[in-house]
Amino acid sequence: MTDSLTIHRPDDWHLHFRDGAIMRDVVPFTARQFGRAIVMPNLTPPVTTTALAAAYRDRIMVAVPEGVSFTPLMTCYLTDTTDADDLARGAATGVFTAAKMYPANATTNSAAGVSNIENLYPVLARMEADDIVLCIHGEVTDHDIDVFDREKEFIDRHLRGLVANFPKLRVVFEHITTSDAVDFVLASGPQVAATITPQHLHINRNAMLVGGIQPHNYCLPVAKRETHRLALRKAATGGSGKFFLGTDSAPHLKRDKESACGCAGIFGAPYALESYITVFDEECALDQFEGFASLHGPAFYRLPVNEDTVTLERAEVAVPACLHVTGEEIVPWHGGQVLGWRFVG
Ligand code: DOR
Ligand code: ZN
Repeated sequence: MTDSLTIHRPDDWHLHFRDGAIMRDVVPFTARQFGRAIVMPNLTPPVTTTALAAAYRDRIMVAVPEGVSFTPLMTCYLTDTTDADDLARGAATGVFTAAKMYPANATTNSAAGVSNIENLYPVLARMEADDIVLCIHGEVTDHDIDVFDREKEFIDRHLRGLVANFPKLRVVFEHITTSDAVDFVLASGPQVAATITPQHLHINRNAMLVGGIQPHNYCLPVAKRETHRLALRKAATGGSGKFFLGTDSAPHLKRDKESACGCAGIFGAPYALESYITVFDEECALDQFEGFASLHGPAFYRLPVNEDTVTLERAEVAVPACLHVTGEEIVPWHGGQVLGWRFVG
């Protein structure tokens, strides 16, 4: 039995840091485990320009603890009025690693997102020409579409056409939650990949709704049926370079989650690697963990693999029921549970 695993330091290819005091308190959790992270731009106001992204990156760097090496990779929030020249300049000067497309009103702080994806095609053409990665929140927002069907519907209504129209555009289908998304990514060319969160590997929709509403298991896209969870586990642990780690860690204070209108998002950063490796262990796929966590993402983004390593060992870890940011309570993913793997460092 493998009791200890040393791998190249992983990266988190999808993450929310927020801003201000919360950001200063959550950055150390990610910087402790990961070498880099793709930082989501859904602030208020959103990070829509190179100048805003550069300033945000500087604020994040101030929050990285002394002696820790961590690089935030910035994304541009696409809107109906994105300036393609500014985006291209930001990418060329190394400020932007990717651009993020939220369909308008799909999730937290997405009101300024894209109202008609096809209207964005001129910007996507420029991204394809300049080889800028597109990260997509893949859900339709139409009120007549059931929330559990929104990802599949997005593939059929938008993603298939987008990928066909821009065959060279590198696309990351973010935080996939369905077997339909797995199938779509596998059937697409090497320019299409996906991130998978720890929560979607651990829970199905029952965890949100059985035994009372469980707000700490609520995120978007919502967890789906068990068949979908099993498809995601197979994809993540199966060795394909098309799937890689992206926590979608999305901190919301406990009181904002435990509310009549609870926020979507799971704070996965503090025990992220322990959470993922548990899944690989359960699937007897520890030999595939380094690929998913540390190698596939850099290969897709065409960035070097981190040179240093981290070690995880088989040992019980009690995840606190509650942590604190800005002096307020926040519930981490797996809060109150005992995990079977420990992050050594
Ligand atoms: O659950 C989510 N929370 N999904 C998202 O897409 C956004 C995120 C957030 O920013 O809170
Ligand atoms: Zn997200």
